[in-house]
Amino acid sequence: MQHVLSARQFDQAAIADIFERTDFMQERLASAEGRRQLAVSHLGEVAATLFYEPSTRTRLSFESAAARLGMGIISTENAKEYSSSIKGESLEDSIRTVSAYAGVIIMRHGDEDSSERAAAVSPVPVINAGAGKGEHPTQSLLDLYTIRQETGRSQDLRVVIGGDLAHGRTARSLAQLLSLYPNNHLTFVSTSELQMGQDILDHLEERGTTYDQTDDMFSAIREADVIYWTRLQKERLADQSLVSAFSINQAALQVMKPEAVIMHPLPRNHEIEASVDTDPRAKYFDQVQNGLVVRMALLDMLTA
Ligand code: NCD
Repeated sequence: MQHVLSARQFDQAAIADIFERTDFMQERLASAEGRRQLAVSHLGEVAATLFYEPSTRTRLSFESAAARLGMGIISTENAKEYSSSIKGESLEDSIRTVSAYAGVIIMRHGDEDSSERAAAVSPVPVINAGAGKGEHPTQSLLDLYTIRQETGRSQDLRVVIGGDLAHGRTARSLAQLLSLYPNNHLTFVSTSELQMGQDILDHLEERGTTYDQTDDMFSAIREADVIYWTRLQKERLADQSLVSAFSINQAALQVMKPEAVIMHPLPRNHEIEASVDTDPRAKYFDQVQNGLVVRMALLDMLTA
């Protein structure tokens, strides 16, 4: 693995390797001795986080992951304003520069092709930490890791993916990862304006993954093993009058299977009510925990 650019680059074997490394990180983090060993495992290496778009979890989890592996960290949040981007420097020139200072570059950017462009000029590994409306491959890895942890499998799943699927990059990357495994069925819940992109639907067809699309949340979630909910991407939406028609609330909990898993990449707005958080099926804060260990595994593998 040279870069992490798209969920499409992975096969089952690559994911198995990443999750094995993730399990190892989890086990090491559980003891003080393990944490000490990890903290000297990458001494002398430097990770750079270059974020042109806002982030809480992704940037801080990568920085925490790097810190726990003993790496130095250089960072520019709000790179759009606080890096030389504002002076008109191209992404390519910024990457050439940062690659002189760091052995791995973790980047979030508003353009769908940003991570490919960065990788094309970077002598060091580039990790796509969110590229416009395109992809968010490390989020989909932690999502799949969480699904596997909670259901015990990656296949034979009925997964409902709902919300703003036209602009949400996490849903796009997760759908692609799930299509690697046999007998998963995806149900996309959204309004007609916010439907999953045709490129992803075509990809599912190529892989033989069945799917359907609906705006009826209640009927969709009834049989679901996993309910993956996402936020309306207000900042990417031309028509601000569209409001999320889909709220996971107490009534929705009533119709879900007792062993269903409720997930969300976060941040959430009103699409999952706070009262759902105490339901044992709510796993979105477990996803946050898993984000740290999956990203430790990725950094470890890319800088080995
Ligand atoms: C998401 C993102 O930035 O794509 N957040 C995340 O990384 N967990 C989801 C979002 O912005 O809605």
